Amino acid sequence: MAMLSTSLSGPKSAISYSAPHFSGLRRLCTKLDATNSHSSFLPNFNSQLRCSSPRKPSRHVVAMAGTGTFFVGGNWKCNGTKESITKLVSDLNDTKLETDVDVVVAPPFLYIDQVKASLSDRIEISAQNSWVGKGGAFTGEISVEQLKDIGCKWVILGHSERRHIIGENNEFIGKKAAYALSQGLGVIACIGELLEEREAGKTFDICFEQLKAFADAVPSWDNIVIAYEPVWAIGTGKVATPLQAQEVHIAVRDWLKKNVSEEVASKTRIIYGGSVNGGNCAELAKQEDIDGFLVGGASLKGPEFATIINSVTSKKVAA
Ligand code: PGA
Repeated sequence: MAMLSTSLSGPKSAISYSAPHFSGLRRLCTKLDATNSHSSFLPNFNSQLRCSSPRKPSRHVVAMAGTGTFFVGGNWKCNGTKESITKLVSDLNDTKLETDVDVVVAPPFLYIDQVKASLSDRIEISAQNSWVGKGGAFTGEISVEQLKDIGCKWVILGHSERRHIIGENNEFIGKKAAYALSQGLGVIACIGELLEEREAGKTFDICFEQLKAFADAVPSWDNIVIAYEPVWAIGTGKVATPLQAQEVHIAVRDWLKKNVSEEVASKTRIIYGGSVNGGNCAELAKQEDIDGFLVGGASLKGPEFATIINSVTSKKVAA
């Protein structure tokens, strides 16, 4: 059986083959299943990464399976003060960002107004959560209507911190997504396995179950970005290797193709989250099914977040 390891920093090849690498995964997805030896996998993978046409003009995408625009979100979580957020916004306003990336930041609710009023329009605002239905007598909650009123375009739903610390389940998250979409917010729909689930070989089962809960609840995937965030990689400094991320992303795309449609599989952005930083983003971005990032800790530093946004350039080469 083919075993892979990543050696993505080498000058010649993006991939090398040696030690077992698909740790914890029950099975490979369709594209990878087709390969059962080093020799058969190598040409297949290389062909996915190769430029699609040598005749294309100077800079073009070489490693993008999906057709959606690269997407980078910054999840500020429960961090910041008026002062630190003023500085972060000013740093972000000073950065030079590549044009072909959708950029979103998710400040804590309390600071959304401040950020909306001071941040460049180049960057859209997301909430980190929303109430499951229309606002009303729900103490401590924030409604989708209020988020829209204050200028939010997106909401992050299904984040592992809400699943595993707050206790939100698949069904509740699916309902939240459906309601947010019905009111015109885009949804950053998070999925991802715990370490013990990965070690038990259940990574795909968990991700597909979480995906299905979204799919069962939403009428359309038009305004959904999927964020694959392995829980063991979030806030731990233990980033998934590019191939560990890629193998789940390709499986997610394949799931969408089989269970929703080929069109949705192609146009839905599948972004990676979990200890992404300025140093590892470029190698991750080279993976063809990684369409961007959801960034926590590193999004609190303006210049580093800009580096991550601009890693879209590593998807391109000069002709
Ligand atoms: P991290 O968080 O980048 O700090 O690991 C990612 C996330 O939770 O979205």
